[in-house]
Amino acid sequence: MRKILMLLAILMLSVTSLSACAPAEPETSTVKVGIAIYKFDDTFMTNYRTEMEAYFATLSTDAMMYEVSITDGKNDQATQTEQIDSFIAQGYNLLIVNLVDLTAASTIIEKVKAAGIPTVFINRQPSTEDMALWDKITYVGAKAEDSGTYQGEIAVDLWKNDAALDKNADGVMQYIMLMGQEIHQDAALRTEYSIKKVVAEGIEVEVLFQERGNWDRVLGQEKTAAALAQFGDEIEMVFANNDDMALGAIEALKAAGKVIPVIGVDATAPALDAIAAGDLAGTVLNDSVGQAHTSVDKAVALLNGETLEKEYWVPYVKVTPENYKDFQ
Ligand code: GAL
Ligand code: CA
Repeated sequence: MRKILMLLAILMLSVTSLSACAPAEPETSTVKVGIAIYKFDDTFMTNYRTEMEAYFATLSTDAMMYEVSITDGKNDQATQTEQIDSFIAQGYNLLIVNLVDLTAASTIIEKVKAAGIPTVFINRQPSTEDMALWDKITYVGAKAEDSGTYQGEIAVDLWKNDAALDKNADGVMQYIMLMGQEIHQDAALRTEYSIKKVVAEGIEVEVLFQERGNWDRVLGQEKTAAALAQFGDEIEMVFANNDDMALGAIEALKAAGKVIPVIGVDATAPALDAIAAGDLAGTVLNDSVGQAHTSVDKAVALLNGETLEKEYWVPYVKVTPENYKDFQ
C-alpha cells in the first residue's frame, strides 16, 4: 500500500512538473470573417472593403486571428446568396453583408439566424421589420437625408453668391438629377433632401431631367450627355447621388464645352482632385473609414455576445473648395 501511495505521489509530482514545464504558448483562436460586397466594381465600396480588411488586420493578435474572406456579389443577389451559403457551410464565425437586393434581407437573416452567425449589415439598410427577426444582427450606415441636405446647402451657397448661375434670369433653378440604383435608400433620400433644402431656402426649382446612372461613372456621363442634347443651356445645376456619376457628368460637360456646377456625394479621391481642379463644385464625405471601423467593431462586439442597437450612424461631412484639403 505504501509503495503504491509512493508511486502515486511520484507520478503526480512528475505530472505537475511536466505541466509546469509545458511551453506557456497561448493557443491561437481563429475567427473566420466573411464579407459579402454587392459588387467590387464600385469606388466607394472598394474603399470601404479595403479599410475593413486593413482594420481587421490591426485587431489580430497572437492569441486571436481574424481570417477575412471577401466576396464579389457582381450586383447579382443569387450570386451573393450562394456566397453567403458557402460562408455558412464552411463554418464562418462572423458575417458582414452589403446586400445586393434589400428585398433579400429576410431570407439572409433567416439563414444566419439558423446557423447562429452574428451578422452586420452595411450600406444598404434592411427594413425595421427584417431587423427585428434576430437580436444578433445590426446595421451600420450613414443618414442619407443629411447627405442630400448638404448637397442642397452647397447648391444654395453657389446660387446666392453668383447671379450669373441663373442663366435665363427667371429666378428658378433649372437642374438635372443623376440618381443611384433604385433598390438603394441613399438614391431616393439624396434626390429628395437635396432639392428640399434648396426649396426651404426660398429658391424655386424646376427639374429638367431625372434619370438613373446607378452609381456608375460611364452611365453618369451618358445620361448627362443625353440631358445636354435635350436641354443644353437651360441646365443651371447638376446634382448627382454620388461622385462617380458626378465625375461622369463633368466629362460630358467638358465634351460639350459647358460650365455648370456639379455636386456629388462620397468625397472619393478622384472627386477631391476634381474639386482641386475647379471641376466639381462640392461633395459630401461618405466616411468609408469611419463606417468600416464601426462595422468591424460592431461585428466583434456581436461575437463577444454584447447586446447591440439595431442601427449605428456615421456622420456625413460637407466638402467644398474651402475644406476639401482636410479630406485628401
Ligand atoms: C452609396 C455610395 C455610392 C455607392 C453605393 C453602393 O452610399 O454613395 O457611391 O457606393 O453606396 O451601395
Ligand atoms: Ca433659371
